[in-house]
Amino acid sequence: MFARSATRALASQSRQFSSSAARQTKVAVLGAGGGIGQPLSLLLKTNPLVTSLNLYDIRGAPGVAADVSHIDTASEVVTGYPADKLDQALEGVEVVVIPAGVPRKPGMTRDDLFNTNASIVRDLAAAVARVSPQAHVLVISNPVNSTVPIVSAVFEKAGVYDPARIFGITSLDVVRAARFLGQVTGNDPANTRVTVIGGHSGATIVPLLSQSPYGKSLTGEVYAALVHRIQFGGDEVVKAKEGAGSATLSMAYAGAHFTDKLLRGLAGEKGVVTPTFVRSPLYADQGIDFFSTNVELGRNGVEKIHPIGPISAEEEKLLAACLPDLKKNIEKGKNFVQ
Ligand code: NAD
Ligand code: LMR
Repeated sequence: MFARSATRALASQSRQFSSSAARQTKVAVLGAGGGIGQPLSLLLKTNPLVTSLNLYDIRGAPGVAADVSHIDTASEVVTGYPADKLDQALEGVEVVVIPAGVPRKPGMTRDDLFNTNASIVRDLAAAVARVSPQAHVLVISNPVNSTVPIVSAVFEKAGVYDPARIFGITSLDVVRAARFLGQVTGNDPANTRVTVIGGHSGATIVPLLSQSPYGKSLTGEVYAALVHRIQFGGDEVVKAKEGAGSATLSMAYAGAHFTDKLLRGLAGEKGVVTPTFVRSPLYADQGIDFFSTNVELGRNGVEKIHPIGPISAEEEKLLAACLPDLKKNIEKGKNFVQ
């Protein structure tokens, strides 16, 4: 989906749309000094839909902002905010992207990050709810299956919760699925887009290969290996980085694409659809009220949550394995705030 031609098409769409709509959009990145935050800030500086960029981190944001601000794209203002200037960083922002928090080391699960990241995300969300309650919040910090319920519960407590404005970014799973299916079948990943549903960790990541013309004929070991690689692609990077962190560059790419889609939806473009982890009615009757599936993005954020559509017998099994884990992760997040 996000191969080069698609990237160019997206950039050109954004340009055409922005020039006709001429919106002013202020975007904040919380955790902008980190492994994801830096390249994400760079990519957002190149997005014509972003007119102003506020970069915040407890370490290093002013330096990143000074650096990024020299890039010769149209956005007027890039400002770096140090640790004690969080409120200022959030004033008037329409979109807040949160990659703040610690990444995994080899041998850890995403849930092992909960103890550290839950409070970081809770405190940042409380500041957003207080200073910019109308902002759209895009959560990257892991474990996403729990941090999105945390942000939602914080907003609910503050009396400013709108489920249409809080998103867990699962786009890296979509990027990986397209790339890995492209590799397995010998096709350009621009053509091998896969809808990935569920959550963002191991068995909760459910790729719907049967809905792809390139994926539907895969069977046996090839199918099983591809599903495993999509579900555990993050581990490959964690292992290769040998303790220095997890995916940063591919995540920045995926996060920038998701942000672009949201900005296009907010600007009024129709038909912008992508998977994202949001408050969802699809499995709410089973006590799972957050779920990732294709979502149409529009002027108010979440415009329409699509059903998962027809799935194969194998995918039914993957979904059956996903739901109990997801439920536990969501409850853990909610309980943390209560
Ligand atoms: P990193 O350690 O390189 O950067 C994290 C940054 O957050 C640091 O600069 C740190 O100073 C900052 N930070 C910590 N506490 C903060 C606070 N209270 N306020 C503002 N900034 C704060 O880590 P990274 O590699 O950039 O990863 C960040 C997070 O993203 C991790 O939790 C990681 O697991 C997650 N992640 C998610 C996905 C996904 O698909 N959603 C993909 C990759 C990584
Ligand atoms: C990923 O999928 O790469 C991220 O969630 C980071 C991780 O911990 O694997």
